[in-house]
Amino acid sequence: AEALEGSNATRGLWSSRLAFILAATGSAVGLGNIWKFPYITGENGGGAFVLVYLVCIAAVGLPIMMAEVLIGRRGGKSPVNSLRLIAQRDRLAPAWRLVGAVGVLAGFLILSFYSVIGGWAVSYVGTAASGGLVGQSAEAIGAIFSDLLSDPLTLLMWHTVFMALVMLVVAKGVRAGLERAVSILMPGLFVLLLIAVGYAMTSGEFGRAVSFLFQPDFSKITTSGILVALGHAFFTLSLGMAVMMAYGSYLPKNVSIAKTSITVSVIDTGVALLAGLAIFPIVFANGLEPGAGPGLIFQTLPLAFGQMPMGSLFGTLFFVLLIFAAWTSGISLLEPIVEWLEERKGMNRVVSTLGAGVVCWALGIASILSLNLWSDFAPLGAIGMFEGKTIFDLLDFFTANILLPLGGLLVAVFAGWVMSREAVEQELALSGPMFRLWYATIRYFTPVAVAAVFIYNLL
Ligand code: PHE
Ligand code: NA
Repeated sequence: AEALEGSNATRGLWSSRLAFILAATGSAVGLGNIWKFPYITGENGGGAFVLVYLVCIAAVGLPIMMAEVLIGRRGGKSPVNSLRLIAQRDRLAPAWRLVGAVGVLAGFLILSFYSVIGGWAVSYVGTAASGGLVGQSAEAIGAIFSDLLSDPLTLLMWHTVFMALVMLVVAKGVRAGLERAVSILMPGLFVLLLIAVGYAMTSGEFGRAVSFLFQPDFSKITTSGILVALGHAFFTLSLGMAVMMAYGSYLPKNVSIAKTSITVSVIDTGVALLAGLAIFPIVFANGLEPGAGPGLIFQTLPLAFGQMPMGSLFGTLFFVLLIFAAWTSGISLLEPIVEWLEERKGMNRVVSTLGAGVVCWALGIASILSLNLWSDFAPLGAIGMFEGKTIFDLLDFFTANILLPLGGLLVAVFAGWVMSREAVEQELALSGPMFRLWYATIRYFTPVAVAAVFIYNLL
């Protein structure tokens, strides 16, 4: 409600550039980096995919993040209201409500399965802490994972715990404490990833992993791989659902949008690459399959923690910090839905959170069942690109590869074509050539690239 009234001045700004970076990094760094990036890289053949992904981050993700932040700061209100305000005299104005709608729908669908994976991490805290990983073989570690997946009730329990954590923070509407915690816990996660990389360097096939990740073999890249890389650039940077727009509305005017966006993108990419460097040496050293799918980190890192000195401690800490990273991302997924319910339906925060959270939780059950009882159920199996995809796979595919890029496309068109050039130029405060580069990217390159990848994959 507060977001509807008042200007920036009355809403209270981030105390500094750092506070924005912490919140944005809290949203960006999550399961996308540590769980999803390594497994989609493995599925899509390694190096060439990583290169395409990095290009997507730099050429599409970063410019769109800047666009989201600048729209948010310019409007100074909640995303939907910011868009409406800036596009006041635009005849297409109602179309910009679509951005809000995409955000709500995407947040809802993503959180439903994101919470299930978050639940896996919760489950592994117990396994690691009880010494259950120590000295286990690759087969035994694989069995721990497949036992977990085959047990719907256990999955439901941990999914419930994770969703409750997210709802708790959103219902209270206090994020400040959590953001301060990000400044301690994120570096902690970074250090534990470094420890895992250190183990992988000494005990795994590090050289092979490095060439797998960084030596592009272009014969391995497919058009669907390019779509996945592009979609993941949106997913991992939390773009396309106006999260960064909401955060941008709190950014002080004198802060450089370009610099802060680059910082967030670099941290996010760094965490993903570190996760890859920790995981693939273990994959190769143990004869595991790089394309093993969503279980990849849960079948590799536990093996490493089971073998390194003080592994139970490091393993426990790692999964606790992973939960934390996923938690801050989960909050940013639920927040837009709750804000939307508050603004549009006039519901109070606690009721909105309960309503949205419970529906999301219930949808998560479909993802849980996709892992066991419904693992052969492919609802859209007859349609080419959805072949063999379970409900869980479909939710992941539809949100990351279709909804978020669509949201991002709308943002790019808005910043590039609907807003006045003066307003955009003033917000970004870049040097002439840098501004022209960004402006051309957002006006022509991003929309064309996203549309081209879409059309190519539909045909
Ligand atoms: N960026 C988060 C991650 O990589 C996921 C996310 C997507 C969060 C979209 C918010 C919005 O884990
Ligand atoms: Na991310």
